[in-house]
Amino acid sequence: MTDLKEAASILEQGGVVGMPTETVYGLAARIDREPGIRRIFSVKERPFFDPLIVHVGSVEQARALVSDWPAEAEVLAKRFWPGPLTLVLPKNDMVSPLITSGLPTVGLRCPDHPVALALIREAGAPLAAPSANRFGRTSPTRAEHVESEFEGRVKVLDGGPCDIGIESTIVAVEPGALSLLRPGHLSEERLSEALAEAGLRSEWREPKDKRSAPGQMKHHYMPDKPLILLAAPMEPAVLLREVRGRLAELPSEVEGVRIRRPSEVNLLHEMSLPAEPAQAARELYQGLRTAASAPGDALVLVWPFDRREGDWRGLWDRLRKAASLRIE
Ligand code: TXA
Ligand code: MG
Repeated sequence: MTDLKEAASILEQGGVVGMPTETVYGLAARIDREPGIRRIFSVKERPFFDPLIVHVGSVEQARALVSDWPAEAEVLAKRFWPGPLTLVLPKNDMVSPLITSGLPTVGLRCPDHPVALALIREAGAPLAAPSANRFGRTSPTRAEHVESEFEGRVKVLDGGPCDIGIESTIVAVEPGALSLLRPGHLSEERLSEALAEAGLRSEWREPKDKRSAPGQMKHHYMPDKPLILLAAPMEPAVLLREVRGRLAELPSEVEGVRIRRPSEVNLLHEMSLPAEPAQAARELYQGLRTAASAPGDALVLVWPFDRREGDWRGLWDRLRKAASLRIE
């Protein structure tokens, strides 16, 4: 489906549509259509305690949804929107508690994708949209991923492959202080630089209450087969023996998400990712899907220690949460 008018009409009637963004595909509903919001949770099999990000077309549209818009929000939104940055701010009554899981704050983001921006404009309302995958699973970076994830039950606007490939950086904003709730393509350093250039000296704090950031759950983004991370390459026969010995450690369920656990392991599928952070992020979810559909009982990825900090941080966060086992 590529017709914006059709998509807007589904949203108008309280339905959901797959929407491309520069990070990952979202499953969108209008914030002023409760049946649509409820449908996001049911289609995704997502628990109601996990809040949704609201997508806006402009800074003005964002400001209409909050009760406070600190100087930090103004600077970051002006500098990085449209872009892969979600700002968590105190919400006002325009945002239903269903969207925020009862939290007093709302996550807001202006996506940098022409189709998403056109859909928000055509709909005439901000769109709540989590990533368009079943809860706990690998996020979609192509329209086909969304179609197969929901077995054709959701109409999807095709905007091509996502450029960034991992979800937005999420930052809680208070006057004078920021907390990183989810690392992403935009690093803390880049945000701090922008604030400093604007003359703001905001400090980074640990999130006040870890429970207020459900995206910080330990496991997420899991592919259909267990992913095993190795800190260094191993000889195939040695690795197979090691994995067989640790089979019992592979979880069959994590935080309510069922994981397929092989009863025996005879074949490991080794996958790889580019050695450059932005390129690796772009290919991560497609790579996990392709690898999970190849022959093999489990996936193996060598991920050295020097790819965990700095520009690698967002990607490492996803890999760590996607993995069932680490051998290091
Ligand atoms: O790049 C993205 O952010 C993508 C695209 C579609 O925009 N969306 C996305 O949504 O990743 P989702 O639902 O998969 O992850 C959103 C996470 C939630 O799990 C939650 O942790 C956090 O955002 N979040 C949303 N609202 C929040 C709030 N008020 N307080 C704390 N965390 C919040
Ligand atoms: Mg998600």
